[in-house]
Amino acid sequence: MLLERNIKSSMEINYKKDFPIFEKRGGEKPFVYLDSAAMAHSPRAVIEAVVAHAEKFRSNVHRGVYALSEEATEAYEGAREIVRKFLNARSTGEIVFTRNTTEALNLVASSFGRNFLQVGNHILVSRAEHHSNFLPWQQLRDEKGIILDILDVDENGEITFGAIERAVTPQTKLAAFSFVSNVLGAINPVKEMGKFFRERGIIFVVDAAQAAPHIPIDVQNIGCDFLAFSGYKLGAPTGIGSLYGKEEILEKMPPFLRGGSMIREVTVEKAEWNDLPWKFEAGTQNIEGAVGLGAAIKYIEGIGFETIRNSEEILLKKTLAVLENIKGVRFFGPKNVLCRVGVVSFVIDGIHPHDLASILDQDGVCIRVGHHCAMPLHQWLGVPATCRASFWVYNEPEDVARLREGIEKAIHTLKY
Ligand SMILES: Cc1ncc(COP(=O)(O)O)c(C=O)c1O
Repeated sequence: MLLERNIKSSMEINYKKDFPIFEKRGGEKPFVYLDSAAMAHSPRAVIEAVVAHAEKFRSNVHRGVYALSEEATEAYEGAREIVRKFLNARSTGEIVFTRNTTEALNLVASSFGRNFLQVGNHILVSRAEHHSNFLPWQQLRDEKGIILDILDVDENGEITFGAIERAVTPQTKLAAFSFVSNVLGAINPVKEMGKFFRERGIIFVVDAAQAAPHIPIDVQNIGCDFLAFSGYKLGAPTGIGSLYGKEEILEKMPPFLRGGSMIREVTVEKAEWNDLPWKFEAGTQNIEGAVGLGAAIKYIEGIGFETIRNSEEILLKKTLAVLENIKGVRFFGPKNVLCRVGVVSFVIDGIHPHDLASILDQDGVCIRVGHHCAMPLHQWLGVPATCRASFWVYNEPEDVARLREGIEKAIHTLKY
């Protein structure tokens, strides 16, 4: 059915060739990379953009009055404009460069949460959150006497509106949800959530770390107040990510970190802060990271999210069919591939996830095992660890076949 749709998938065009790592680590049995949810590989376009920046434009930004520094500033601010378009934010003032999603969410909890939430206010999160979207709120609970309400997911791993309606109280002032779960792969209905929270005056924070590589994001359409993502999950270098915040809210928030670049004037007595977004960018930033992030977004846009989603649907269907057909294997998250991205977590009766990963590794197949920084979810699933296979634009149906072979080998070796 999916193949019959007259839309190209990334498998019809070999995007794998854009990623040098697959050539460099090729060989008789090329490695199969099924851990993009932890770290996506960089396409040549990103690597070249970062190298070109280092070779031709390396200089600090916003400071120099010489041409080189101005060119570096243009490249850095140009990358911000690319991120703005990618998220459909209204202005570049709403796009703050951060190290990653974790830093972005801590910025919100620290600068917004500490200053605008009060004792007795409630924060709502789901049990499926990554620790990055859980621990900053837990810290606020402990420091400020805020109540942290935890929403359970349903048996499919999905968040239902019934559950949200039951969990929200007149004291709920902030809700923080992932767009996509890094364990269940489930896509949350953030647009509907945005409307629901907006109507109740609840600040809505979206963790888009797992959404950004797979589905288009439109912050105006979602109507969220904050949204965070990390660049390396979409092929950019590590150490660069972004926080979107509504301008009128960011304006009111105090700086997160204090130091160079984020001020307008400093005297011995006091300091005045720089304009947005620089108020939140203290110290020298990851300039080449931002340039790489811009190149990564351009690369993805060149492929198009429709193509990315189509390929994932094909891979997901194959993967779920493989897992459903092996006795003793259980996968988590929605069964409908349209409700999830290419992230599949599973367990095999009687086989520890780490043992499976080691056997797969012997055959060059990389998967992730563990609690994936989502321990409250694993406690609810009743398993200490899961195996996770995740896909991106370079994966092919053969990769799923290699995963199947590895699982069968592990069952054969370890169980019988
Ligand atoms: C859903 C989700 N949120 C947040 C994070 C944290 O991202 P980072 O480590 O880049 O801060 C991750 C990382 O895997 C994630 O999957």
